[in-house]
Amino acid sequence: MNTYTNRQWIYSKRPENVVDERHYSLQTTSLSTTELKENQVVLKSKYFSLDPYMRIQQSALETWERPHPLDTVQGGAVVGQIQDIHPSCREFEVGDWVLSYTGWQEYAIADVSGLRKLNRDEVPLTTALGILGMPARVAYFGLQDVGQPKPGETVVVSGASGAVGQIVTQIAKIKGCHVIGIAGSDEKTKYLKETLQLDGVINYKKFTTQKEIHLELKRLAPQGVDIYYDNVGGYITDAVIDSINTYARIIICGQISQYSDGLDTPNLGPRFLHKMLYKRAKIQGVLARDYNNRMPELLEEMTPWVQQGLLHYKETIVNGFENLPKALNMLFYGKNTGKLIVEV
Ligand SMILES: NC(=O)c1ccc[n+]([C@@H]2O[C@H](COP(=O)([O-])OP(=O)(O)OC[C@H]3O[C@@H](n4cnc5c(N)ncnc54)[C@H](OP(=O)(O)O)[C@@H]3O)[C@@H](O)[C@H]2O)c1
Repeated sequence: MNTYTNRQWIYSKRPENVVDERHYSLQTTSLSTTELKENQVVLKSKYFSLDPYMRIQQSALETWERPHPLDTVQGGAVVGQIQDIHPSCREFEVGDWVLSYTGWQEYAIADVSGLRKLNRDEVPLTTALGILGMPARVAYFGLQDVGQPKPGETVVVSGASGAVGQIVTQIAKIKGCHVIGIAGSDEKTKYLKETLQLDGVINYKKFTTQKEIHLELKRLAPQGVDIYYDNVGGYITDAVIDSINTYARIIICGQISQYSDGLDTPNLGPRFLHKMLYKRAKIQGVLARDYNNRMPELLEEMTPWVQQGLLHYKETIVNGFENLPKALNMLFYGKNTGKLIVEV
């Protein structure tokens, strides 16, 4: 029998604005292998995924699922290693690395039905949280199924240097599109231009109004926008909608600019829906989870792209279990480039 001291971050208070340490409490419990049931394993957490959806679920609103319950371990994707295993489990062994959804705790008991086995000789383990994980799913299927990009079309991506955005921009380039990325610093736009080889970039923080961003976009893409992959919403989205072409496709992946104080008491807008009418454009939301069963298809195509360096990716890795709430807060201040991860 093994017993582990287990620290857990408990989500304890709904934020009214930006989420931070005040909305969590740290609890220490113990976990014993005597608790293991059939088809269960004990996992030791190594990499935690930090995602903007966590803030959506912290709102009291019903969204695609119920609000995150208070006084429970913060949910989230984790890469961990199997420490102990119930004798009934045949497909896994002690020492295997897996992707789980066991949340912010150092150890967890998990059902094997919810685990994805990872092969660290193939690609680094952290890729299961980013470039070959949930952000990739919504990027790959959202752009291709809903956007249906054709060579020569112009694609604009907001939140372009983030976990999802850096993948969307590169797939759009692979599909032969003219790609413009919008991000919040010169360092990020440099990455987009020099490493990801985008055709145009906009640091939105250099422009104070929707009109100015619109004019900059018009300068970079006088031919107009065929696909807009939106990760941020707000005035950036207003500026892009003002530039759409006939039969444009607008993909709503996220609206991070609205999460901290706009979900329960939203600002009015967008005001440019009349352009959708003139341009006979489409707008559609996309959810990563709707494509869960198509993950093998994604991995088959994208794993070689990652192995061959055809797809670049950045990760921002913060060290220390104790820093999880602080790290989540970083997403809302643009302090990450690429996938944000906490390592223990
Ligand atoms: N639909 C789905 O299934 C699904 C799945 C994954 C993610 N998402 C959504 O996709 C979006 C990106 O997620 P991600 O995981 O890739 O996160 P991310 O882009 O890696 O990180 C968040 C980034 O958002 C930008 N940002 C924060 N506040 C902003 C604001 N007020 N205005 C403009 N930009 C702001 C910041 O970059 P800058 O420095 O550029 O401002 C920040 O670095 C989020 O909206 C998320 O909710 C949706």
